[in-house]
Amino acid sequence: MDDGLLVELARLAARGVHEPDAMPFEHPWTRGTPDEVARSVLAYQWNTRPQVSPSRFALELAVVHDGIPVGVQGLVADDWNILRRVQTGSWLGREHQGHGIGTRMRILALHLAFAGLGAREAISGAFTDNPASNAVSRRVGYEPDGSFHVAREGVAVLHSRYTMSRERWESLRDRHSEILGSPVELLGIEGFRRHIDPRDAPRAPHTRKQ
Ligand SMILES: CC(C)(COP(=O)(O)OP(=O)(O)OC[C@H]1O[C@@H](n2cnc3c(N)ncnc32)[C@H](O)[C@@H]1OP(=O)(O)O)[C@@H](O)C(=O)NCCC(=O)NCCS
Repeated sequence: MDDGLLVELARLAARGVHEPDAMPFEHPWTRGTPDEVARSVLAYQWNTRPQVSPSRFALELAVVHDGIPVGVQGLVADDWNILRRVQTGSWLGREHQGHGIGTRMRILALHLAFAGLGAREAISGAFTDNPASNAVSRRVGYEPDGSFHVAREGVAVLHSRYTMSRERWESLRDRHSEILGSPVELLGIEGFRRHIDPRDAPRAPHTRKQ
């Protein structure tokens, strides 16, 4: 996202990302005044931008629906050059939730990871008291991968994990196409791939060489 989109997204987050008594995030960046929440979004995104290398990347994408910025879909990878695994994270402004956008953007993130970047595996997770995020992972077809406790605002809270192998993602293409309703077009991938796979970028995605 460029700075123009980022400022719009920061304003969106400042208007609310969840009910006041909920907390979907391990780091409670949505607490505070609207100005503080907006500043958290700006600081996080500016800090994340330089993190693009073969060993680690954090790709934070603006989600734009009908021309309006509605949220953020992130893909983070540690030891990418070894593991080829991405972890997704996302949020939508409250006014845009519950309309199927979260499901669609997760499917698009998986398409980017597997078809665009050559990932081997994608993982996701959500607190068990976050029904929408858990429902997205189930509907998209992830396999449940257990749960563990995470410290959230001073309390141990159960957090569910989900995994999606490349093979499983390929087997779910029809389900994903049906939900999306139109083919996916990837644009601008090569420029990004040159940074995370410098020796590999001009060729087809990693897994095709195996
Ligand atoms: C999680 C989030 C990205 C999901 O996006 P969304 O557009 O609201 O989700 P969708 O409309 O695609 O709905 C997905 C599913 O959640 C279900 N769902 C939504 N809210 C629900 C609720 N309160 N209780 C039970 N199910 C719920 C929907 O019924 C749907 O399931 P279905 O497809 O089986 O019917 C969005 O709600 C959000 O940003 N929440 C706040 C931040 C957050 O939780 N981020 C993720 C942290 S892990």
